[in-house]
Amino acid sequence: MKKRYTITSALPYANGPIHIGHLAGAYIPADIYSRFLRLSGHDVCFVCGSDEHGAAIPIRAKKERTSAQNIIDKYHFIIKESFIDFGISFDNYSRTSSEIHHETASEFFKDLNDKNIFIEQESDQLYDSTENQFLADRFVEGECPKCNFDGAYGDQCESCGSTLNATELINPRSKLSGNKPTLKKTKHWFLPLNKFESFLKKWFLVEKKDEWKTNVFGQVKSWINEGLKPRAITRDLDWGIPVPIKGAEGKVLYVWFDAPIGYISSTKEWAKRKKIDWKPYWQDPKTELVHFIGKDNIVFHCIIFPSILKASGKYILPTNVPANEFLNLEGNKISTSKNWAIWLHEYLEDFPEMQDSLRYALTTNAPENKDNDFTWKDFQARNNNELVAILGNFINRVAVLTQKYYDSKVPSIGILNDNEQSLVNEVYSFPKKIGDSIEKFKFREAVNTMMDLARLGNKYLAEEEPWKLIKTDDSERVKTIMNISLQICGVLGLVCEPFLPNTSKKLKAIFNIKDTEWDSISKESPIIAKNIEKSSLIFRKIEDQEIELQLEKLNESKQ
Ligand code: MF3
Ligand code: ZN
Repeated sequence: MKKRYTITSALPYANGPIHIGHLAGAYIPADIYSRFLRLSGHDVCFVCGSDEHGAAIPIRAKKERTSAQNIIDKYHFIIKESFIDFGISFDNYSRTSSEIHHETASEFFKDLNDKNIFIEQESDQLYDSTENQFLADRFVEGECPKCNFDGAYGDQCESCGSTLNATELINPRSKLSGNKPTLKKTKHWFLPLNKFESFLKKWFLVEKKDEWKTNVFGQVKSWINEGLKPRAITRDLDWGIPVPIKGAEGKVLYVWFDAPIGYISSTKEWAKRKKIDWKPYWQDPKTELVHFIGKDNIVFHCIIFPSILKASGKYILPTNVPANEFLNLEGNKISTSKNWAIWLHEYLEDFPEMQDSLRYALTTNAPENKDNDFTWKDFQARNNNELVAILGNFINRVAVLTQKYYDSKVPSIGILNDNEQSLVNEVYSFPKKIGDSIEKFKFREAVNTMMDLARLGNKYLAEEEPWKLIKTDDSERVKTIMNISLQICGVLGLVCEPFLPNTSKKLKAIFNIKDTEWDSISKESPIIAKNIEKSSLIFRKIEDQEIELQLEKLNESKQ
């Protein structure tokens, strides 16, 4: 049955370029999922955009001695470019400074305010009296009251994942002046999460119990059971979306209120361009809504945003939130401030046109259930020992032998022996196997299965040795062997597309593979044409010096 899917990837803050941790966490998995669903004939809307509000932006502006506007204009385009470069197939990439988003988020707030969902309340908030500014979120740092990590933000501790109120921080200090904040009274609008507890318990703990990934379920369950408190969803700041009601002058919406609504604005922008209605993608209960995020975003996507959607009364709730854990780099946490990262635009300078190699390494090594480590050595090994030695080798051998023996015409298939009959059946069972893993968000398993298909092809060639048979003049056997091998190349060309889109394009061109819906890939409907094109090498080996150079570069630029 064909379904409608709305798929989102966390909106990256437009306060810096994108690194491999971002890609592995929320973008490659979402892209694999979206590509697979499109190839299976589903109606997919895959959206994202830049997150351009919140304290992250003015803080970066201060560091670069420029305006917040300049910061978002600079990084929005750099980020967007990286996503295009790495084949992340968004249907729309928007930005939260757009008019359509300001309008959508304001309407959302007004609607909930009219429904009397919020509590308006004066309270003491942290204040920097030298900078004349209230300190919330990333403007303030201190010790986490839950895990004692010294570097927790005013709204969240990234070490233990807890959501916080800035006033709960132990020994808070202003990120603007370094001073100890004072307290000052101010009015804010609060979302009473405590009132959503019974809804969340039923929806999440009961209905979703078996579907959620265990890393996600465990976290959310313990938060819900600890008891939820009202959360301020407005801020005293001059950067953001103005709170659209009387009496709230000078205040803006909390970035975590407006940003997830950015998924909806991005969908609207896309639908407008396509001249279709956006509403079914967010309001039809038959639509599957899936949020791809990193683990630091879990609370916002599993507790706060669903509560907001629920309160609106019109919106669907996420079907799943397959959050990933973190990817470390060479044994240390990836850190923008310490410049401990591999930036995508820099990677491409050193490894031009090798996007698929990075996609492959990040998928096989994805932090799906626990934090994982990216090392340059492992990257090299994945590329050389798997992409080059298994997939590339198989493809190349089949293409070269077909050129050599048959002048690039696909030979006809003869009588299959028992072994070949079961091999062919096995080959055509791969699309379903891979698809089942993708549907369960097991992308590592899926990509490994894809590689197993190439392994199977190599093993078949190695056992049959057509290069020996051709000399003994057993030409009918060779035709059959090459035909089966070409079919394997055909299936590979199709099923590698979600993981390795550039490679898939090349394979389709070499073997003239017919675009075929995922479920229709079968031995009954041939997917390769009558002849193939000249092939060129699809992957290249990475030398030891290249890796040493990267390691040096990483260590030298560390701050
Ligand atoms: N900008 C946030 C981050 O990088 C993610 C925002 S996701 C959204 O952690 F849901 F708010 F869009
Ligand atoms: Zn903590």
